[in-house]
Amino acid sequence: MIYFVTSNEGKFREVKEIAKSYGIEVEWLKREYLEPQGNDLEEIARISAEILAKEVREKFFLEDSGLFIPALNGFPGPYSSYVFKTVGNEGILKLMEGVEDRRAYFLAVIAFWDGERVLTFKGRVDGRIAHEMRGERGFGFDPIFEYDGRTFAEMGEEKNEVSHRRRALEGFFKYLKGLENL
Ligand code: IMP
Repeated sequence: MIYFVTSNEGKFREVKEIAKSYGIEVEWLKREYLEPQGNDLEEIARISAEILAKEVREKFFLEDSGLFIPALNGFPGPYSSYVFKTVGNEGILKLMEGVEDRRAYFLAVIAFWDGERVLTFKGRVDGRIAHEMRGERGFGFDPIFEYDGRTFAEMGEEKNEVSHRRRALEGFFKYLKGLENL
């Protein structure tokens, strides 16, 4: 069993589901934590985990993710959470009005505190910003992020096979499994 620290229920559900396919049990440590500001997701995740390690005695991991839009020079990137809370999907759609280059990607960085140090694992998924919100499932920017013609919010659980989170967790869970076999 391993603790996953997040206050975001959508993230926890996905992580739990993906972990199950690796035979790994994840326990939800539901709490907020301090995130330093910065332009680098990996550094933000690493420093957050180092700070949190002073309070959490057990081994744990957290995940920091963001939506990057090249036509907006990478915005909202590391500020995704704030941008989602303030202007949301409508705000992004407005910024993208009349923009032809609709490419976008999600990045996820897992930071794992193993009791002594922080290890990080990254995942990325490439897609496009839709012209309108579609789909009822998922969370956050899922209704406007298109992958292979469908938004993540339309894909439901199929999202978990291709998402940035899935790809970051893949590396992390393989690492944990490798430790078991030592
Ligand atoms: P954070 O990792 O908690 O800082 O979240 C970054 C922001 O990106 C939040 O507003 C999330 O809603 C959004 N986000 C992260 N992962 C996803 C995802 O898989 N789908 C849609 N939005 C996401």
